[in-house]
Amino acid sequence: MKEISTITKVDYCAGGESYVTPGGTTVRLHPVEVEDKFATDPIEADRITRAVEELSEQGFFGDPRIDLERKRTRRDIRLDNPSTRSMMEIIEGFASWHREIPEAKALEHIYHPDEGHLPDGTRLGEEAEATNWLTYISDALGIRSRASVVQDIISKEIEASESPLKVASLACGLATPMLELCSYVKNREGLVVPEFKLADYDKSALNVARDRAKEMGVIEHFEFQRTNILRPEGIAIDGLKGVLAERLFNKPKRQFDVVELVGILEYLDSSDWVRHFEYGEVIKVNKLIAGATNLIKNSFDLVEPGGRIIFGNMLNPRPQLGLTINVVQWPHIKPRSIKEVLQLLEASKIDLSEGVDVHLPDDGVYAIYSVRKPEAYTQWVA
Ligand SMILES: C[S@@+](CC[C@H](N)C(=O)[O-])C[C@H]1O[C@@H](n2cnc3c(N)ncnc32)[C@H](O)[C@@H]1O
Repeated sequence: MKEISTITKVDYCAGGESYVTPGGTTVRLHPVEVEDKFATDPIEADRITRAVEELSEQGFFGDPRIDLERKRTRRDIRLDNPSTRSMMEIIEGFASWHREIPEAKALEHIYHPDEGHLPDGTRLGEEAEATNWLTYISDALGIRSRASVVQDIISKEIEASESPLKVASLACGLATPMLELCSYVKNREGLVVPEFKLADYDKSALNVARDRAKEMGVIEHFEFQRTNILRPEGIAIDGLKGVLAERLFNKPKRQFDVVELVGILEYLDSSDWVRHFEYGEVIKVNKLIAGATNLIKNSFDLVEPGGRIIFGNMLNPRPQLGLTINVVQWPHIKPRSIKEVLQLLEASKIDLSEGVDVHLPDDGVYAIYSVRKPEAYTQWVA
C-alpha cells in the first residue's frame, strides 16, 4: 500500500479489465483498494450501516423506492419527511449541517469528520455521533476516496514532470483536495510543486480556500478565479482578458496539463438546458447552461496536448443511494453508470484515441474518469 494521499490511502489492484465500446473507445477499468484514514472500526461501521438501512427503509414519506426522476430543488427539501426528521434526532448537529447542503462547505466536515464544529456549534470529535456518521456513511467514504484518487492521478503526473505542472481545479469549492495535494508535494524532495488555478462561482468558497492556502503556507502556488464554468460557449478561465484573447486573437484556450472537475458532473443534465431566473417584474432571464457533455468538451479545450482531464460521477447503482436521495435529500444529483458516462464522453466529440481510464474505489460510490489528450493533438480551438 503506497501512501499517496493526505486523506485516504489508495492502492491500484492488478487485473482491471479493458474493453472497447460499440463507439470504438478503449476503456480501462482500475479497481482501487481504499484504506480510509478515518473509517477504521468495523463494529462502528456495522452499527452505522444498520442505522442507515433502517432510515432508508422509511424512505421518503414511507416510500423507500429510489426514484431518481423525482424533481427536487434546494427549496424542496422536505424537513417534515419522517426519515429526515429521525436522522436529525439521532445525530446532534445534523440539522445545521443539512442546511449547508449542497454548498461546498458541507463537504468540509466529510474531509475532516473529527475536527471543528458543525454550524450550530456541535463539536466534532471522538464522542460526537455526527463524527461517526460523517466517517462511516457511504457518501462520506466515496467523497474522500474520489479526492484521494484525483490526488493520486495528479501526483503521478507531477512525479513524471521536471517542470511545474499547470493544474486547474474547476468547481473547486474549498479546494481541500488540491490544497492538501500541494502541501504533500511541497514536503517531498525531488517533486516540483505545480501551479494551481482554482475556479469556482462561489466567492465565499474561494475566500476560504485562499485563507487556508495562506495558513498552510502554500499560497504562492495558487491563483484564484471567480468564474462561471457552465457558460455553454467555453470556460473563461482567465476572466475577461482570457475571453478577449480567445475571441480577438484566436489564441487557443488550452493551457493546462491537468484540468480536474470532480464534484460537478452529477449535478448536470447531459445536454445544455435553460435556467429561468426571475426577480419580480424587474428581471426575467433565460440563461443557457452547459450540460455534462458540453462541460466535458469545454474542459478538454483547456488541456495542452499530452495533458488530461479528470472528472467523477456518482455511480448508479451504488450503496446507500436511498439515504442520499430519500433521507438526506441531497438535491439534483444524477448518478450515472459507467456506460452512461462513456456515452456522454463520446457525445462530447473530444479526442478519445488515448482511451479512457476509469478508477473504481471499492466503496462503490463514485467512478473517476481520466482522459489524456494525445501529444499529437493538432486541432486548434476556433
Ligand atoms: C460539490 S462542490 C465540489 C467541490 C470540490 N470540487 C471537491 O470535490 O471537493 C461543487 C462546487 O461547484 C461550484 N459550482 C456550481 N456551479 C458552478 C458554476 N456555474 N461555475 C463555477 N462553479 C460552480 C459550487 O460553487 C461548488 O463549490
